[in-house]
Amino acid sequence: MANDESCSELLQSQAHVWNQTFNFINSASLKCAVELGIPDAIHSHGKPMTLPELVRALPINPSKAHCIYRLMRVLVHSGFFVQQKVGGHEQENGGYSLTPASRLLLKDEPLNARAFLLIVIDPIITKPWHFLSDWFQNDDPTAFNTAHGKGFWDYHAQEPRIGKFFDEAMASDSRLITNVLIKECKETFEGLTSVVDVGGGTGTVAGAIAKTFPHLKCTVFDLPHVIADLQGSENLDFVGGDMFEAIPPANAILLKWILHDWSDEECVKILKRCKEAIPSKDKGGKVIIIDIIMEKEKADDESIEAQLSFDMLMMVLLTGQERNEKEWEKLFLAAGFSHYKTTSVLGLRSLIEVCTEVVVLNFV
Ligand SMILES: C[S@@+](CC[C@H](N)C(=O)[O-])C[C@H]1O[C@@H](n2cnc3c(N)ncnc32)[C@H](O)[C@@H]1O
Repeated sequence: MANDESCSELLQSQAHVWNQTFNFINSASLKCAVELGIPDAIHSHGKPMTLPELVRALPINPSKAHCIYRLMRVLVHSGFFVQQKVGGHEQENGGYSLTPASRLLLKDEPLNARAFLLIVIDPIITKPWHFLSDWFQNDDPTAFNTAHGKGFWDYHAQEPRIGKFFDEAMASDSRLITNVLIKECKETFEGLTSVVDVGGGTGTVAGAIAKTFPHLKCTVFDLPHVIADLQGSENLDFVGGDMFEAIPPANAILLKWILHDWSDEECVKILKRCKEAIPSKDKGGKVIIIDIIMEKEKADDESIEAQLSFDMLMMVLLTGQERNEKEWEKLFLAAGFSHYKTTSVLGLRSLIEVCTEVVVLNFV
């Protein structure tokens, strides 16, 4: 290299390549911490936990005890733990405490994100990433098919371990999002008499809506094997079927994290089935979608990175994608809807209400 500037650029570029290459180390270290119960041990301790206290609390082989410090160091760096003084004394390295992010990984936290972490970096889900370039060159529908010889939903139906893991990951995300939905978007459900949660999984969202609105008849509609052993309640029932064929009729259809799983063509089919299932707008008919809208203004770097990762995940596992507002609008119009309204109160995702009324498009 000719001068200092290009040397430093070269070295910075090398560090950038290294860091991008090593990205998986962050998620693998986090998985390890969750499996060892590190967030739970620190939480149960009730105050900052020193390294020796942490090591004593963990189910590890004593010969590996000295490595816990190194695992914790990378997780402090990635924002999952902080180190604080213990008992007001300056102690070497201090004690470990949780951060808001590691609180979401506690076993007993109802709004926890641990199932999502564990499924996304399960070897069954990470394997297709090693087949991505093959997939670009073959005619398989997804890299998941290339890696496993079948599609994701067939795998989900045939492998109970993955099926259960996935359903739990969806349910824990649903607990988190429903909490916000019911607090911030209550009016979305007011005045409705019935709602069908299409692809509603094990019923977490519909169950919470049914509890909050006791006069609203809620139905979870999902593949027969997903809802097989589930019990309803007074105003909640479970119906098995295929959303590409027919959807039970209701005032409103909820589609949470459904359309991003599917191609444009498949989404238009699903939306047409939804349209057949609801009455006109003046009788309360609408489709309520919870999904990402890409390229929303004001998105910070972390949100953009998460949305881009979701988009890649949808491409690798399924035939889906994340969409920007124009792309969403195109789907609604193709399915025969004329009006939609978006509300951005669900973090990375938005609430989109779609109906057939011909009025001026209203963006919130
Ligand atoms: C990404 S999950 C979302 C689950 C739930 N809505 C949530 O957000 O927690 C997609 C759901 O669609 C269901 N599904 C897939 N294909 C379906 C079909 N053809 N008909 C009905 N449901 C289907 C899956 O079983 C799964 O529960």
